Amino acid sequence: MNFTEIANARQSCRSYDPCRIVEKEKIEAVLHAARLAPSACNGQPYHFTVCRGDIAREAALLTRGMGGMNKFAVDAPVLIVISEQPYVRSAALGARAKNNDYRSMDIGIAAAYLTAEAAAQGLGSCILGWFDDAKLRSLCGIEHPIRLVITLGYPGEKDQPRDKKRKEMEELVSWL
Ligand SMILES: Cc1cc2nc3c(=O)[nH]c(=O)nc-3n(C[C@H](O)[C@H](O)[C@H](O)COP(=O)(O)O)c2cc1C
Repeated sequence: MNFTEIANARQSCRSYDPCRIVEKEKIEAVLHAARLAPSACNGQPYHFTVCRGDIAREAALLTRGMGGMNKFAVDAPVLIVISEQPYVRSAALGARAKNNDYRSMDIGIAAAYLTAEAAAQGLGSCILGWFDDAKLRSLCGIEHPIRLVITLGYPGEKDQPRDKKRKEMEELVSWL
């Protein structure tokens, strides 16, 4: 698949096959893709914690919200927890001088690379921004704030390709 094909194929997967284990090589492939992501001053201010088995299930329970939000996550055999790491010195200076949050951007870009590679590997993924930070940190032994959780697994039968709903180009883009 070329990049456009991957971007079209990737979608938030909210139905996983709980019985189908994800091969370690595939998990490594998505992590390697995330490692290649660009970041401010090449600081890579993040850490990936891979949860599998019982700990993935326990972590998934900590992503549930009102109205059954993220209920599907318990069926995902793998959860990748992305926590924030301190800035490198130059990025910290830039962020302060320009009043900009480069770390969140860096984490978002890494998550985009990771989920794109997941799609290329035939895996389903979903980026989760709703979770109990304190309990998840305690469960995973993570010192720094958790910013995103990514569910990973083989899509279940209910996960069928959907048309993308996006803003029109005219709304998104200005040509000057
Ligand atoms: C930062 C971020 C946080 C998100 N949090 C959640 C979440 O907690 N639960 C969920 O089901 N989807 C979550 N999503 C997925 C979005 O709802 C989804 O990407 C968007 O609706 C577009 O759909 P698509 O990913 O299928 O193309 C999140 C996505 C991003 C980028």
